[in-house]
Amino acid sequence: MSGIIRPHAVDTPHLPNLKHYPEVRGGEGGSFTYTTRTGLKFTVREFKPEDEQLLRDFYDSQSEHTLLMRFNTPRLPPKFINHVTSPQSELKIGLAFHKGEMIAESMYGPGDDIQFPDTCFTVADKYQRQGVGPKLMEWAVGRAWSENYSGLSCQIRADNKRMLTLLGNFAREKKFMLNRVDRGSEALIKMRF
Ligand SMILES: CC(C)(COP(=O)(O)OP(=O)(O)OC[C@H]1O[C@@H](n2cnc3c(N)ncnc32)[C@H](O)[C@@H]1OP(=O)(O)O)[C@@H](O)C(=O)NCCC(=O)NCCS
Repeated sequence: MSGIIRPHAVDTPHLPNLKHYPEVRGGEGGSFTYTTRTGLKFTVREFKPEDEQLLRDFYDSQSEHTLLMRFNTPRLPPKFINHVTSPQSELKIGLAFHKGEMIAESMYGPGDDIQFPDTCFTVADKYQRQGVGPKLMEWAVGRAWSENYSGLSCQIRADNKRMLTLLGNFAREKKFMLNRVDRGSEALIKMRF
């Protein structure tokens, strides 16, 4: 299956929708504070090399289902941490904290399409369904936008309904175009700013 989902009537579909630019704009470095729809307040800051163990512990404490949705396997892939934290990695990693506890990660980096970096994130089990995910999306969009990308890609399991819903709602709210291509059990989503 292939095609545009949730298309939006925008005047300039191939140009940034300036009306929505300030809302989603992030910035270089620094940290960003968000309040979710349920009133949960958290801060996202850039990953630092000394956070490696924190990131590993975060994944190790999540359910198999969450890891399956994130990595397509119920365990943290052995080389994942080394891969994303290597000095050669071009991934941007945001870590989210609530009252000192790490509650989520958000990443984006080079993908198949040079103008649409891949993005992915994980909200800790006990903080899911509280609106954290959409705010992580804002963080990633803000960063990607400030670096002049055209949009973001997301490769997810086609059965990851929660993530698909999140992307659909986010794109509709921001009036971004969303394109979905299914490849077997995987859905490739492209969101154009
Ligand atoms: C997918 C994921 C990132 C979503 O983040 P989240 O913070 O849980 O997102 P939300 O809080 O928006 O929760 C989504 C749920 O809230 C519901 N929701 C969304 N907006 C809502 C609103 N305004 N009012 C009430 N409910 C709402 C959604 O319908 C969805 O409900 P469901 O669980 O019954 O399907 C998170 O669940 C996660 O990390 N999952 C595991 C890893 C993963 O799948 N990562 C994505 C692949 S890269």
